[in-house]
Amino acid sequence: MPSLIVRSFGLSIDGYGAGPSQDLRNPLGVRGPELMEWLFCTRVFHRIHGQEGGEAGVDDEMAELGFAGIGAWILGRNMFGPVRGPWLDDSWKGWWGEEPPYHTPVFVLTHHRREPLAMKGFTEFHFVTEGIHSALEQARAAAGDRDIRLGGGVATIREYLRAGLVDEMHCAIRPVLLGSGEHLWSELDLSRLGYECFKFVPGERAVHVLLRRRKSGA
Ligand SMILES: NC(=O)c1ccc[n+]([C@@H]2O[C@H](COP(=O)([O-])OP(=O)(O)OC[C@H]3O[C@@H](n4cnc5c(N)ncnc54)[C@H](OP(=O)(O)O)[C@@H]3O)[C@@H](O)[C@H]2O)c1
Repeated sequence: MPSLIVRSFGLSIDGYGAGPSQDLRNPLGVRGPELMEWLFCTRVFHRIHGQEGGEAGVDDEMAELGFAGIGAWILGRNMFGPVRGPWLDDSWKGWWGEEPPYHTPVFVLTHHRREPLAMKGFTEFHFVTEGIHSALEQARAAAGDRDIRLGGGVATIREYLRAGLVDEMHCAIRPVLLGSGEHLWSELDLSRLGYECFKFVPGERAVHVLLRRRKSGA
């Protein structure tokens, strides 16, 4: 059965997955890029952005895990962009330019209807207004026997965790304290929700923590 997985989710030691005050100049919020510095150096990151080089190592291997066997993505509307409220027009097409690095159908959760948007390289954004279960159902139908990657952001991952729908989650914990922003864990009792940590790997610039849903009865 294909899984719903979170990969390469950058987190500060104090649990923030994005900085505050997201806008056009700060897609990850203020100081948000500090959460992702481990990824920016990797070979994987260079490759998916069409660049040469990057560093091999544990961080690179962990980042690589996030791109194998993915048949669809699910994103929250704020990860897709800084536009809030009703879409005034179709001019915003994501942060990633004409050819986004997804190359699959991408289901964007929003309360505001919008027509699908086809991009270069087989990325197609579908805007889902019927909630997380519907987005997952549509993503499963599109992904076939491949996994679905839940890209973020924070609020969207929290919703899927709270519903017990995330099968596996990889967090890359960076040695930074943000102090404010979007907090991933607040009032989320992961243990009660049935999750356990099954792997803990120190990398070059982050510590990689892998969580999964405990098998029932365990
Ligand atoms: N640390 C990392 O690795 C990482 C990864 C990805 C993203 N990020 C960052 O995380 C931040 C975004 O996270 P966020 O928590 O602000 O927002 P988000 O999860 O990206 O999006 C939340 C928005 O999605 C829509 N939405 C979510 N659930 C919905 C539902 N059930 N039904 C309908 N619409 C729903 C709503 O938008 P509307 O009501 O406005 O339509 C909601 O305000 C960005 O700064 C991004 O760069 C970090």
